Parts: sequence; structure tokens; C-alpha cells
Amino acid sequence: MHLVSFRLNGDERSLAVEPRRTLLDALRVDLGLTGTKKVCDMGDCGACTVLVDGRAVYSCLILTVDCEDREVTSIEGLGLADPASTNGEAALDPVQRAFIETDAYQCGFCTPGQIMSITALLSEQRAPSEDEIRRAISGNLCRCGAYQNIVRAGQRAAELFATTAATSPTGGPR
Ligand code: FES
Ligand code: FES
Repeated sequence: MHLVSFRLNGDERSLAVEPRRTLLDALRVDLGLTGTKKVCDMGDCGACTVLVDGRAVYSCLILTVDCEDREVTSIEGLGLADPASTNGEAALDPVQRAFIETDAYQCGFCTPGQIMSITALLSEQRAPSEDEIRRAISGNLCRCGAYQNIVRAGQRAAELFATTAATSPTGGPR
């Protein structure tokens, strides 16, 4: 077992893991953060997308031991730094709010990964074009075919970010 230390959703975490333990299994099984979804477990679907040092990665393809000293953000980490948060609704990240406003999901299973990919995009590009949004989610499969509204959610999230001054835990807009 290896002791790994990294920053997760703003908190310092240390975890003893086998060298083969993926970040996805560490999050879901060892840390109980089940918002990150496990579907293909082989880099095909994007349901497991999280941010590592602000970049969207498939957590099923990265080993936990490779996260030493890195900044990991899962879907549970969005919205946590909102000082106005007093209840679940208020604690939602603008990207999460945008998904609700635009009805950008059906079963919702791909949604956390879609949200993380759009969050990564908006951290780098605050006013993305439709093409850039489509490219950002091109690695996130939606079996329900909700793509049209997912793109609208990306556009709406950019609007929400443009009207708020605060920044996210990842340093991007919120
Ligand atoms: S579960 Fe990681 S890409 Fe599908
Ligand atoms: S909303 Fe069902 S898989 Fe995307």
C-alpha cells in the first residue's frame, strides 16, 4: 500500500491505496464520493470525469498514486465555496444551475461528467463558442441523447458566470 496525499475539493486528504487503485475507485469506494460515475471503466464514456489541477480527466484512467500533491475536484466540490450558500439550492454551482434551467439531462447518469467538462472549459474560456462547448463535451457520451440541451447548458453557464464576480475552488469562474 502507498500513502498518497492530495487536495480534494479544497481539503487535504491522505489515503493508503494499492498502486493499481484508480482515482475513480478511490473517490467512489474509499472516500464515498459517488457523484463521479463508473460506467465503462476504460476511458470510453466520460462519466467519470473529474478535474485534476483544473483539467478534465477520466478518473478511471488515472492512478491515485499519480495524484500526489495535486488538486482534485469532483462534482461534490462544486459550489462549496459559495459564501451565500445556505441550503442545497443556493449551494449549486452555476454550471449545475444551468443544467437545471435548460433541462439538460434525462436519466442524469452522464450529468456529473458533463458538468465537470464544461467547468474545465469555462475555467479557460469564459465566453466559449458553441463549437468549443461541443468539443469540450465530445468525450462525454450521453445515452439519452440530451446533447442539444447540454450545449445550451454550457451557453447558459457562461451567461451566469458573466453576471457573477466570484471564482470557483478551481480558480475558474463560478
Ligand atoms: S468510466 Fe471512465 S471513461 Fe467511462
Ligand atoms: S442524461 Fe442519460 S446518459 Fe445523459
